[in-house]
Amino acid sequence: MNERVALETDIEFIRHLKKHGGETMKKCFQCATCSVACVLSPKEYALPRKEMINASWGLKDKLMADPDIWLCHGCMDCSQQCPRGARPADLIAAVRSYVYRNYSVPKFMGKALSEPKYLFWLFLVPVIVIFGLALITNVVAYGGDMNFFLVREGIIKYEDFIHKLTIEALFIPGNILIFWLAGIGLYRYWSGLSNNYAGKPVKSFIKSVFEVLGDFLVHKKFEKCPTNSNRHYGHMYAFYGFIGTMIATGLVVVGEVYHYGHKFNLDFLTAISFELPYPMGLMHPVKILGLVSGVFLILGLLMMFLKRTKQLERESKNTYNDWLFLSVILGVGITGMLSVFIRMSVDANTVWIAYTNYFIHLVLVFFLLWYMPFSKFAHMPYRFLGLTFLKMHGRENKQEFFNRN
Ligand code: HEM
Ligand code: SF4
Ligand code: SF4
Repeated sequence: MNERVALETDIEFIRHLKKHGGETMKKCFQCATCSVACVLSPKEYALPRKEMINASWGLKDKLMADPDIWLCHGCMDCSQQCPRGARPADLIAAVRSYVYRNYSVPKFMGKALSEPKYLFWLFLVPVIVIFGLALITNVVAYGGDMNFFLVREGIIKYEDFIHKLTIEALFIPGNILIFWLAGIGLYRYWSGLSNNYAGKPVKSFIKSVFEVLGDFLVHKKFEKCPTNSNRHYGHMYAFYGFIGTMIATGLVVVGEVYHYGHKFNLDFLTAISFELPYPMGLMHPVKILGLVSGVFLILGLLMMFLKRTKQLERESKNTYNDWLFLSVILGVGITGMLSVFIRMSVDANTVWIAYTNYFIHLVLVFFLLWYMPFSKFAHMPYRFLGLTFLKMHGRENKQEFFNRN
């Protein structure tokens, strides 16, 4: 006698997928053209056909435990070839966005970041917090005279508006908190994958981490997709640009440590700060690193931006999540570069332009970093973990498998 199996359909999950790019999934008639087209698909239980059927049945648990969604690098080959216009690439992107929402802690943040109606409130929080820093600076340093747009000692310093120490007092513990929350989400995701995956690991965690890192540093998987291989330049520029700006920002903080060590005769502070000067001149190597990295970040992001505007709607539809992430990170890059150059071009009468740009920059940095575990920026740790899991279990794409055998 045939056994009956009850499938547990999750309607809320289907709604999310439809809203975030998967609205055409029901068109799929399981012909598997997409899996043949996809060079990153493994040879068994191929991607993305099985994801299409699991999604249209609303099998949330199955898809949340499916590491293959991280193999997909969004090249759109499958969507171009699909005879039904079902856009499997967008569907997989929608599943990934549900992963951030499902595992994020606290959960409401995942929902808030994926729905436009919460955007105003999401911006209001950093606006109030950063204004609070300007207020503290003004009260502590200038007796609360409420003149925010002043040049105090003849040269334009952002410290007159928002003191660096207030920024550090906010961002250092805040970043630790955010990374801790992200860690909880990632741990839960890893447990979900490990508890539901049928195969056994064939490689150690550490070895897999290094292999994924090696592949990623040269963007090996991006390059594989034949029709869209030039896409990897945009990501590569943005990625290395971002890392460069982060390193430069970190070194500027070290320079500040030197500055305060020197100012207050604290030898142990000057000793740990490599004698990096603060402020740094435009020709200082750390400043050059920051500026060159900023140019690469903006260039890479503009390339990705342009690509999205040129996409055919039949092949891929841009979603709110895509635009939000791209716009915020591009905003961080542009206002960051402007803050260097505007400062050199304004005077006491026009200093408000520099301070306003700096204010917007800090609001966007807050948005990018503190909402990281809940937004598309979470692709960075989640994808890394997903790809590590796949490496550990020896799940390779078919091309590599056939090359080897
Ligand atoms: C472990 C590190 C990372 C990995 C493995 C990774 C991988 C990927 C992949 C495969 C995509 C294409 C699929 C998708 O849109 O989700 C992507 C998109 C993207 N990544 Fe990364 N990424 C990493 C880190 C970063 C960092 C640090 C940045 C910061 C600049 C970044 C910026 C972006 C942007 C802006 C997109 C969206 C492109 C678009 O909308 O067309 N990524 N990433
Ligand atoms: S998504 Fe398109 S190509 Fe893939 S199985 Fe469905 S109908 Fe076929
Ligand atoms: S978008 Fe590219 S990598 Fe992703 S499933 Fe389709 S063909 Fe494969």
